Amino acid sequence: MASKPVKKITVNKKEIPKEDLHAPRGMHDILPHEWLWRDKIFAAVDELADFYNFNRIETPVLERAELFERGVGVDTDIVNKEMYLVKSKGEDMLVMRPEGTAPIARAYLEHHMGRSTSLQKLFYKGPMFRHERPQAGRLRQFEQAGFEIIGGGNDPMYDAEIILIFQRLLERLKIKNIVLKINSIGCRVCRPLYKKQLQSYYKDKEKKLCIDCQRRLKTNPLRLFDCKNETCVSFKALAPNLLDKLCAACTSNLKGVFEYLDELKISYAVDNTLVRGLDYYSRTVFEFFVEGPGAEVGALPGGGRYDYLMEMLGGRMTPAIGGAVGIERLIAVMKAQEMEAPRRVPKKVFVIHVGELAKKKSLNLLERLRSSGISVGEALGRDSLKAQLRLADKEGVRLALIFGQKEIFENSIIIRDLETHLQESVMMDTIVEEVKKRLTRKKQ
Ligand code: HAM
Repeated sequence: MASKPVKKITVNKKEIPKEDLHAPRGMHDILPHEWLWRDKIFAAVDELADFYNFNRIETPVLERAELFERGVGVDTDIVNKEMYLVKSKGEDMLVMRPEGTAPIARAYLEHHMGRSTSLQKLFYKGPMFRHERPQAGRLRQFEQAGFEIIGGGNDPMYDAEIILIFQRLLERLKIKNIVLKINSIGCRVCRPLYKKQLQSYYKDKEKKLCIDCQRRLKTNPLRLFDCKNETCVSFKALAPNLLDKLCAACTSNLKGVFEYLDELKISYAVDNTLVRGLDYYSRTVFEFFVEGPGAEVGALPGGGRYDYLMEMLGGRMTPAIGGAVGIERLIAVMKAQEMEAPRRVPKKVFVIHVGELAKKKSLNLLERLRSSGISVGEALGRDSLKAQLRLADKEGVRLALIFGQKEIFENSIIIRDLETHLQESVMMDTIVEEVKKRLTRKKQ
């Protein structure tokens, strides 16, 4: 039997079978129903940013590759394996940004943002790109919301403030079973000594480590703690404890963070193997997770202190701390915890037309109502009165405005209260006032 011909369409003169027309792997279309979840999260982010005095910043989606090589580190998975490179005519090699902190540090230096004020509190929302293996909570294009506090000394109060804002975000979204893990990865003084101790601990185990960890052992041994390979994980338990090796300044800083968190009644678990996958961190690092449904997505907000990043990019040393959360992960957890899907603010008024002439006049009526600030629903595509009334009912509106041939000739319109089922005819010229009057009337 002859197979069905494949429907083809043309893109740039190349024919592509229709079934091949899909979003790239690990990237998704964000359809209207998903926006209700996103909008809910973004509204919470915006509200918190306003309460806690963070100003919005937006950096380009493309950046020079060396920004991340210098800032995030050439030995990190993000830079080493996951960057999307974009070669454009006569330009340097650009990359689709894999994260937001190095670009913000670049913008901070480029615009001398440290000059205008000693403390910059910034927040951002936007897409990030990492060529990772797609799985639960791991996409190749994902949206992050982040908060950064730059300048103002390495006061542990700022560490606590960043953690606090993410705690409040999770609470506001009603996410349950939150666990906050926290650690300190030391500074320039104590970390090199600890790294040496770690290297000597792993020396006789090197051959048993996975290929990636054998490389990490030489370049960045702390990252061995992040490996999910069973054998590598098994060596973690007896590894030297990072917290025991912190210098006095780092110990006091961490103690300060704990004191602020205790004061704020934020519970936390100290995890001395939490190291994070970006090289710019020093001292405090943190990650939030959930237990139970949704746990499979991994870390929700994550971040830490990055006191040396400005220096790594050629600026002056500027203490800073921040964090970011993946929006898709938040949505996945909210769904896994069986939260009710967010709904659009229901309309209070619905216009119903009966007949062709009324339909023609409807757009103008809708416009009058909308320009007076009344949010109004319609089903101009439907002609049956019953179908329109059903839709009005489904939307849960309070008033249906019904008009047909007779009302047009009389220059009137029927207002039907869908709660009391009482209806009344009013003059079309007074419709805005009549609707407003009824909407402000208390429900019976
Ligand atoms: P990160 O841990 O790489 O840190 O990412 C922060 C958060 O983004 C993660 O905890 C997760 O919620 C989300 N995320 C990361 N990768 C993916 C992915 N492939 N798919 C979906 N969601 C993902 C940073 O990016 C730092 N810039 C955070 C920061 C800000 N540190 C200081 N300031």
